[in-house]
Amino acid sequence: MNTTAHGGTPPKLLLPFDLAALDVSPIRTARLVLRPIRARDADDIHAYQRLPEVVAYLPWPLRDREASHEHTELRTKQRALAADGDGVALAIVLPGEPGIGGGGEGRVIGDLTLILTSAAHAQVAVGWVLHPDFQGQGYAREAATALLDLATGLGAHRIAASVDTANEPSQALCERLGLRKEATFHHDRHDGTGWRDTVIYALTDAEWLARRTPGADTTAPPGAH
Ligand SMILES: CC(C)(COP(=O)(O)OP(=O)(O)OC[C@H]1O[C@@H](n2cnc3c(N)ncnc32)[C@H](O)[C@@H]1OP(=O)(O)O)[C@@H](O)C(=O)NCCC(=O)NCCS
Repeated sequence: MNTTAHGGTPPKLLLPFDLAALDVSPIRTARLVLRPIRARDADDIHAYQRLPEVVAYLPWPLRDREASHEHTELRTKQRALAADGDGVALAIVLPGEPGIGGGGEGRVIGDLTLILTSAAHAQVAVGWVLHPDFQGQGYAREAATALLDLATGLGAHRIAASVDTANEPSQALCERLGLRKEATFHHDRHDGTGWRDTVIYALTDAEWLARRTPGADTTAPPGAH
């Protein structure tokens, strides 16, 4: 018997999800602002897209400034989740930190991705990237927590992250968030230099909501609730 939050009810995501609402009312966490990416973020984004250690485990090439501007422009146009495969990105803004491009509202220190993998089955995937100067301070966890709140708020039943087996910081983040290590795929990707392995982490909406319940032990391992 299905004992999840949805029980026997067919899953239903609140689609289409449009970023317009977040233009007007960005997500605010304790230290960060999460909002749609804008073209003027390109220099802040380039500051991490140009670093080999940042893209080592991402399906991204190293980008020069022009390529970052093109990529950022492209992502500003990806504004909605409606059909399987659609993805949207959110800038992780640190208020008070001067932006490289001179913006006064803060610096874009990283970004989040939310992908609709299956509307019929209420499945989404998430991703994250942070400039190294801002890693190790809990910003990724803070931003990802808000992303999981957003995804479950949309009605996502299962949220997954695909991580290279060698990407220890991202696996550690998944585990801090309470995602369960569900599978390892051997040689499922070729990165141009060799075959890579992928770990799939995931959790359900019910598991996430249990972790977000006041008083819940958010340091407990997944499945402990
Ligand atoms: C994956 C990635 C986002 C993780 O970033 P991160 O900064 O390590 O993650 P967190 O925000 O959870 O920070 C955790 C660290 O901050 C520390 N920390 C400091 N202050 C903190 C606070 N106030 N709250 C929480 N943690 C805090 C934690 O102790 C932890 O330190 P540790 O790594 O020494 O154990 C980052 O490594 C990254 O951008 N990598 C490159 C891109 C990439 O590979 N993306 C993933 C593709 S699947």
